[in-house]
Amino acid sequence: MNLLERLPAPPASTDGRVPVFAPYVGVDTLKHLTDALDVGWLGMGATTKEFEERIAAYLGLRDRYVVCTNTGTSALHIALLAAGIGPGDEVITPSFNYVADHQAIRATGAEVAMCDIHEDDLGIDVASAAALIGPRTKAIVPLHFAGVPCRIAEVHALAHEHGLRVIEDACHAFGTTVDGSKVGSAGDLHFFSFDPVKIITSIDGGCVVTPDRDEVERLQRLRLLGVDKDTTLRYQNKRAWDYDVVSEGFRYHLTNIMASVGVSQIKRVDEFIAGRRAVCERYSTAFDGLPGVRVLRRVYDDVSPFIYSLRVPAGRRDAFIEHLSLRGVDAGIHFVPVHRHTYFADARRTPMPVTERVVEQVVTLPLHSLMTERAVERVVESVWSFFSSCA
Ligand SMILES: Cc1ncc(COP(=O)(O)O)c(C=O)c1O
Repeated sequence: MNLLERLPAPPASTDGRVPVFAPYVGVDTLKHLTDALDVGWLGMGATTKEFEERIAAYLGLRDRYVVCTNTGTSALHIALLAAGIGPGDEVITPSFNYVADHQAIRATGAEVAMCDIHEDDLGIDVASAAALIGPRTKAIVPLHFAGVPCRIAEVHALAHEHGLRVIEDACHAFGTTVDGSKVGSAGDLHFFSFDPVKIITSIDGGCVVTPDRDEVERLQRLRLLGVDKDTTLRYQNKRAWDYDVVSEGFRYHLTNIMASVGVSQIKRVDEFIAGRRAVCERYSTAFDGLPGVRVLRRVYDDVSPFIYSLRVPAGRRDAFIEHLSLRGVDAGIHFVPVHRHTYFADARRTPMPVTERVVEQVVTLPLHSLMTERAVERVVESVWSFFSSCA
């Protein structure tokens, strides 16, 4: 290991606060970036392919394929299109989810129908999803919130019964395992995000994982303007001049430059996840049992945690966030339920008693891959001092 590689992690924030997110970008990432710039092929190419191969290896994929895109949102958009979803169709997803999913569904011309979530894992409530199924329903998009697996076996059973596709939103769950296998390695379609704050980042990026070899080519054409026979050449840092355009398509490809950042990060993903797990377990041990507080998980062995979500009494949430802020600890809220946004207010949905309650309680605490013990203990002290002052 050379001197540069031994440099300590950068400070969590420049003004001494503990931010909610602190993406780790080290010298290793800079080296990958400059190497990729040196090659001189800046667009989609061999490094994009390398990133796809590394994702497949990391997830332990067998007879499943990875197609990288420029965001998680575009990954879902083309996954839906590849699954044949379009105008007149309906896709079910929880309202308690990031609005990217609802937008991607509407971008296909389909309608989104929103269901409730479960009290314990804050993932999709399968009975509530079942209540929405009708003749137009074509797919379900469940989310593994915060990296904690939702009841995916129940989702698949429901989908199987009604002949629906399942497109798992695995954006929070890169590295999470279900029954010993990584999310992405079993089931139907999946998509991931590598945006700036995710467990690994390619600055912006995403990918689709499909179990269907025929779907791979459709996805590759959809990601790059419907151009035929392009991917093979581009994966060698070359391009075709006599191409045909055989379908609709978008500019959704991931460039070599972004992929080089992704490659640098995936090499360290185990270290990142181990760091995040340790912080989450410290938090849960410290907070479980505080009056009115509910932790999402105590043990994180199978979870690759993206955020640490805590539930506090609804009427005290603003004061709690303010208390943390005064102590230099930032907090966030995931999510504002999508049915409350103007553009989605008219979407079909079930009653949402759990969502309506939970969204008033959730607070996202700082969680970083290489979080210093000092920052962790500052968060713990700040949370404790709030609850001891109101005991
Ligand atoms: C649950 C969820 N779905 C989808 C997305 C969209 O991913 P991207 O930001 O890469 O488009 C995100 C990103 O924050 C997310 O958290």
